[in-house]
Amino acid sequence: MSEEKVIIFDTTLRDGEQSPGASLSIAEKLEIAQQLAILGVDIIEAGFPVSSPAQFEATRLVAEQVQGPTIAALARASEGDIESAGKAIAPAKKKRIHTFIATSPVHMKHKLKKNSDEVLKMAVAAVKFAGNFVKDIEFSPEDACRSEMPFLIEILTAVIEAGATTLNIPDTVGYVLPYEYGRIIAQLKSDVPGIDKCVISTHCHNDLGMAVANSLAGVRNGARQIECAINGMGERAGNAALEEVVMGIKTRPDFFATQSAGGLSTNINTKEIYRTSQLVSQLTGFVIQPNKAIVGANAFAHESGVHVDGVLKERTTYEIMTPESVGLRGSRMVLGRHTGRHGFVNKCKQLGFNLNKQETENAYQRFLEIADKKKEVFEEDIAAIINEEIHIIEQAYQLEYLHVASGTGTLPTASVKIKVKDQVKQAAACGDGPVDAAYEAIREATGLSPKLENYTIRAVTGGKEALGEAIVRISTDGRTYIGRGISTDIIEASAKAYVDAINRMVADKGEKSELKVEL
Ligand code: KIV
Ligand code: ZN
Repeated sequence: MSEEKVIIFDTTLRDGEQSPGASLSIAEKLEIAQQLAILGVDIIEAGFPVSSPAQFEATRLVAEQVQGPTIAALARASEGDIESAGKAIAPAKKKRIHTFIATSPVHMKHKLKKNSDEVLKMAVAAVKFAGNFVKDIEFSPEDACRSEMPFLIEILTAVIEAGATTLNIPDTVGYVLPYEYGRIIAQLKSDVPGIDKCVISTHCHNDLGMAVANSLAGVRNGARQIECAINGMGERAGNAALEEVVMGIKTRPDFFATQSAGGLSTNINTKEIYRTSQLVSQLTGFVIQPNKAIVGANAFAHESGVHVDGVLKERTTYEIMTPESVGLRGSRMVLGRHTGRHGFVNKCKQLGFNLNKQETENAYQRFLEIADKKKEVFEEDIAAIINEEIHIIEQAYQLEYLHVASGTGTLPTASVKIKVKDQVKQAAACGDGPVDAAYEAIREATGLSPKLENYTIRAVTGGKEALGEAIVRISTDGRTYIGRGISTDIIEASAKAYVDAINRMVADKGEKSELKVEL
C-alpha cells in the first residue's frame, strides 16, 4: 500500500508577510519563493494581488519565474479581487485562486454587515467567477471554527457545486483546541455532500499555541492539505510552522498509519528546512527563538550531563530526529587564515551557494578579514559572510570609520565618518550606551532619522571569538526596513546593520508590499 501525500501549502509570502513588522521587497519575495520550490512545497501562496501594486507584481513575478509548485493568489469574494488574482498568476504553469469570505456570526454581522444568505450567494458567485481564470479553486469560510456548523455545511456544499476543488477550514483567530478542530474536520468530511471530490485543508492560527497540533488533528481526521508558514510566521501569533508539521508527519509514521493504511508523507525535502528557515529569518528580520522546535539554535543541543552521556551512548535516548534530517550539519571548524581561494570556493559550493565571480571575490576578501581576527572559522560564519554579500544593495551611505568610547562612569560617545557619494561626513554624539551613541552619530552624519523599531544581536557561532550579527528594524512613513551587519566586534556589527537599514530605506522604490486593503 503506497503512502498518501499531505499537500503542503506555504503561505509565508501571504499570511506570513502579514506578521506585524514583516515586509518584503519584490526581490526578497522572489528569492524566498525560489527556495520554497527547492524545499519542495506543493503550493506557494504568493500574495494578495489586489491589495497593492507591489503585491500584484510580486505575485506575477513568482508565477512567471518559479517552477515546480502551484502558484496561488488570495482574493476576497469579489470580482475585482478575483480578476486581479487571476491576472497575477496567469504566467504560472500550475495556478490556483484562493477566495474567501467570513462565515461566523460575529464577522458577518460586524465586519461584513451581511446576513448568511447574502454571504452564501457571494461565495458561490466568487467561486464561479474564479472558474473563468483557473480550474484549481480554493474556498475558505473565514473564521470557520466560530461559524455555525449547519451554515458551514450549507456554504461548503454550495461552493463545491459551484466548482471549488479545495475546501480550507481556517481557525482564523486561533480559538479551538486540537480535539475540537479534529471533530470539525471529521464532521465536515462526513456531512458535506460531494466533499470526497475535494481536498480538505487546514489553516490554523497560533493564538493559543495550538496551530501545529490543530493542523495535525485535522490531518488525523481527513484533511490532506496543511496551510503553514516558515518559522510559523503570520498574523498575530502566526500560522502553523511548516517545519513542525512536516517533521511531525515524518517523525510519527506510526501515529498517522492508523489513519491511512500506507501511512502519510509530504513532498518536502526536509534537508532544506534549516536553510529555508534561515533565509526567511534573515530577510524578514524575525529572529528565531533559541528553543524554537526544529530550527531553533538549541533544538538539537544537549546541555545536561545525563543527556549528553545518553546521546553519546545511543543517540535515540534523547533525539527523536537527527539534526542532519533538517539540514543542520553542526558547527564545524572548516577554514583558517591560510585557506586559499580554491578551498574557500569549494566550501561555498558544499554549502549550496553558487556565487558569481565578483561575489566570490568580495566574499573571499571578507573571509580573509574575519579569519585574521578569528582563529576558527565555522560553516555558519561562512554562510553569514556570503549572505551579507549576496544581499548587499547599492550603498548610498558607507560606514568608513567608527570610534566608540564607553565604560563605567563615562558618558558613552561615538564618532563616525560616513561616505556619501564623493563626500565624507563626520559626526560625533553621545548616547545611553555605545550602540545608542553610534546610532545618534550616524543620524547626525546622514541627516536621516528613521525610527528604530527593534534591535537584536546574536552570536553566529559559540566561543569567545564568535562572529556577532546585528539585526535592526527601522521605520519611516509607515514602511519598515531591515538591516543586518556582521563583525567580530558587536558595536561595529550594530553600526553596520543600522547603515544597511538606512541604505535599504533610501533605495526603496515604493515596492514594499504593504497591504492597502483590509482582509
Ligand atoms: O486566517 C484566515 O482566515 C485567512 C484566510 C484568508 C484564509 O488567512
Ligand atoms: Zn490566516
